[in-house]
Amino acid sequence: MIDLNKKQLQQLEVIQSVYKSDTVTRAQINDLVKKKKISNPSWLKSSKYKVDRGVYKLPSNNFTSTVTQVDVPKTNTEAAYVVSSLTDNVVPSLIPNFVNFGNYTDIKNIVKSKKFYPVFITGLSGNGKTLAVTQACAETKREMIRVNITIETDEDDLLGGYRLKDGQTVWQDGPVIEAMKRGAVLLLDEIDLASNKVMCLQPILEGSGVYVKKINRFVKPKLGFNVIATANTKGQGSDDGKFIGTNVLNEAFLERFPVTFEQEYPSAKVEEQIVSNTLKSAGKSDSKFATNLVTWADVIRKTYKDGGIDEIISTRRLVHIAEAYGIFKNKMKAIQVCTNRFDDDTKNSFTELYSKVDAGASVEQILEEKKQQELSSLETDSNDTEEDKDEDIQV
Ligand SMILES: Nc1ncnc2c1ncn2[C@@H]1O[C@H](COP(=O)(O)OP(=O)(O)OP(=O)(O)O)[C@@H](O)[C@H]1O
Ligand SMILES: [Mg+2]
Repeated sequence: MIDLNKKQLQQLEVIQSVYKSDTVTRAQINDLVKKKKISNPSWLKSSKYKVDRGVYKLPSNNFTSTVTQVDVPKTNTEAAYVVSSLTDNVVPSLIPNFVNFGNYTDIKNIVKSKKFYPVFITGLSGNGKTLAVTQACAETKREMIRVNITIETDEDDLLGGYRLKDGQTVWQDGPVIEAMKRGAVLLLDEIDLASNKVMCLQPILEGSGVYVKKINRFVKPKLGFNVIATANTKGQGSDDGKFIGTNVLNEAFLERFPVTFEQEYPSAKVEEQIVSNTLKSAGKSDSKFATNLVTWADVIRKTYKDGGIDEIISTRRLVHIAEAYGIFKNKMKAIQVCTNRFDDDTKNSFTELYSKVDAGASVEQILEEKKQQELSSLETDSNDTEEDKDEDIQV
């Protein structure tokens, strides 16, 4: 084996990488020296390696891997080792239309305390779970890192992995490690979409830090680090199949959240405030329209709870309608374009319900009327069945 020292190995690697050949000419060597890529390798320009006039055989390639490991300068090694993807401050922005309701004050107090106290927030879609966490962090000026969980989310996405950067393989911290190092709030959004690959978070949910095996390092959380998870279910799956893709989460995983907040839709008063704020920013202040939309959503939610309708109108959808009104300047069109995503029956019954609200009917009147309609359609159905039976007998 040829015994080269560190410096010689470094020179050899540069020559090999530039000329990609077994041999090198004196002129080529001198060119690299002139360009200051290497210092003069006089050891190479000796009779030991000379194969022709001014031509030298490079020592065996076996050295390449050794060279990479040994010769990366220490400072470069550090830089290439851990790369942060977030360089700026990650405190979320305050949104002007936000209205405090439900569990918001409790969430804000937890965030403000900087205590490690994992929180699970569950509730139907579009009722302000994610926004509550975001605004709690914005108001208390706490950094927050949001990760949207999917069934594909794994250790690499959460803790980090090796990535290619400027042609170099570097380690990049994942959002969980980033939040731990910064002492930020980690928002695990839609946690019930996860597979059991999120079980790598188990030690993190105990607040004790985590051993990242891929880099052989133990990461301890900085003061202020906390985990808040949101979900449409309680991690027990979705019985009615409404939330496709939700999974049953591991019991031990759920056990690591000391508190669970059940987020309901806002009260009519709060929701009216949210819709009014949105209408105002859309340049179409209209308190009657805000009241009507909230009453309409209330009727739909109550009917949904009784099983009379398959879809629900969320606070998010009301905000969408208010914004659409600002754009199209037409209430029915705003409602229509924002409910077109539902199937025809649902869409028509939504529009019909809004017309009733707009005509001045109260929630109770509409629900009563709907009940009567259902009863009479049941009676018609049973009469039809009796007639069918009679017909069968005659035949
Ligand atoms: N407190 C509030 N103040 C103002 N607007 C709100 C409030 N809560 C909800 N909204 C409106 O509803 C929208 C949906 O809120 P958010 O994204 O937090 O819902 P979510 O409960 O996380 O829904 P999902 O379960 O679908 O993720 C917001 O973008 C906002 O327009
Ligand atoms: Mg959300």
